Formats: sequence, C-alpha cells, structure tokens
Amino acid sequence: MPEMNAISRFFVNVSAARRSRRSLAWVRGAVRVPPAATCLEVGCGNGDFARRFIEAYRPARYVATDIDPLQIAAADASVRRRSAAGPPTSLELRTADVLGLPFGDATFDLVFAFLSIHHASPTHHDFSRVPQALGEIDRTLRPDGRLVYQEFLHREPIRRWLTDRGYALERVDRRWRIEAVVARKAARPPAAVDATP
Ligand SMILES: C[S@@+](CC[C@H](N)C(=O)[O-])C[C@H]1O[C@@H](n2cnc3c(N)ncnc32)[C@H](O)[C@@H]1O
Repeated sequence: MPEMNAISRFFVNVSAARRSRRSLAWVRGAVRVPPAATCLEVGCGNGDFARRFIEAYRPARYVATDIDPLQIAAADASVRRRSAAGPPTSLELRTADVLGLPFGDATFDLVFAFLSIHHASPTHHDFSRVPQALGEIDRTLRPDGRLVYQEFLHREPIRRWLTDRGYALERVDRRWRIEAVVARKAARPPAAVDATP
C-alpha cells in the first residue's frame, strides 16, 4: 500500500515523536554507528527520527526518503520548525519508492526502516513485494553495513530473507507486537544465494 490516506497519515505522524524518541533510545543501546556515517531511511514519515538521529550522531549524510511527497513536505516543515540554526546540512529529504531506490550500490553504512517495510506490498498482509524492497535495501547497503528496522508484520519471513543472504542478526528485540532488529550485512557476498522469495 504505497501512500497512506489522510487519516492514517495523521495518526502515524501524531505518534511519531513518542515512537522516534523510543527508537533513538533503543538505537543508542543496540547499534554501532560509525563516525561520519552515511545513512538512508526508507519510509521516514514526518522525519522525526531523522532529526533526532542527526542531533545525536552528526552523521556525514542522512538521506530520509518516503514515497509520499506530503510526508516529505511534512518532514521539511517539521525540521525547519525545530532547528533554530536551519535544517542540518547533512540531511537530504527525497521522495523515493523503496521498490526502486535512486541510489548506487553499496552507498550507505546504515539503513533505517521503522514500520515501513510492510508498506512495500499492495496490502499489508501481502508479502509479495517485500523481497523486492529488501533487495533494494541490500543493494544500497555497503558490505558490513547494518539494516536497522522495526516491524510488526512479516517478522519471521523478513528475518529469514536476511539470514539466507548472509546477514547476521545482531539484535532482535520485542516490544508488544513490534520486533526491532539490527541486521549486519556480510563483509563478503555469501557463496550461493537462493533468489526465490
Ligand atoms: C507507518 S508509516 C511510518 C513512518 C515513520 N517511519 C514513523 O515511524 O513514524 C509508513 C511510511 O512508509 C511510507 N511508504 C509507504 N510505501 C512506501 C514505499 N513503497 N516506499 C517508501 N515509503 C513508503 C508511507 O508514506 C509512510 O510515511
């Protein structure tokens, strides 16, 4: 389900500050963030996590993407409102579909996806497009980089997709139905990868 309707968007954005505060606290304890990191976020919503992460870690580059131009506009307005010194220069806000990310191979040290991977398919309980989304994330993540995500749907098949491709699950934490995972990409490609979803 690509773009959310106005009601869903409202409820997601109204709770974003509380969720991203918690997500950042979890990231602090769970993720090794390299100095001058290059980061991508897919399905960034109103950009609240991006803003908090940049304040905390000062990455070299943080590209926050969402398929919905209204979310990117909301993120832009929110960042401008909350940053007295103007938007951070490391932040790029871009409209982009996780099913076809407009970035080169092995570009990012870290990819974040908070409650957005399941949106890749036409309906939430449908797994069919999730492998394509994961394939795009994998392509843009550098070897030894980390995918950091939270999901409440397709939890087990997403983990299996990753481990089948040589990812090491460094953290798998549960809070209610939401699973929070840090998955490290192999430093070298695994010998043989079964391409079936
Ligand atoms: C549940 S919201 C989560 C937003 C944000 N990550 C948060 O936690 O507040 C899912 C987001 O994914 C975006 N989205 C849906 N389909 C997408 C796609 N194919 N590519 C990129 N973003 C997508 C939606 O527009 C929405 O902003």
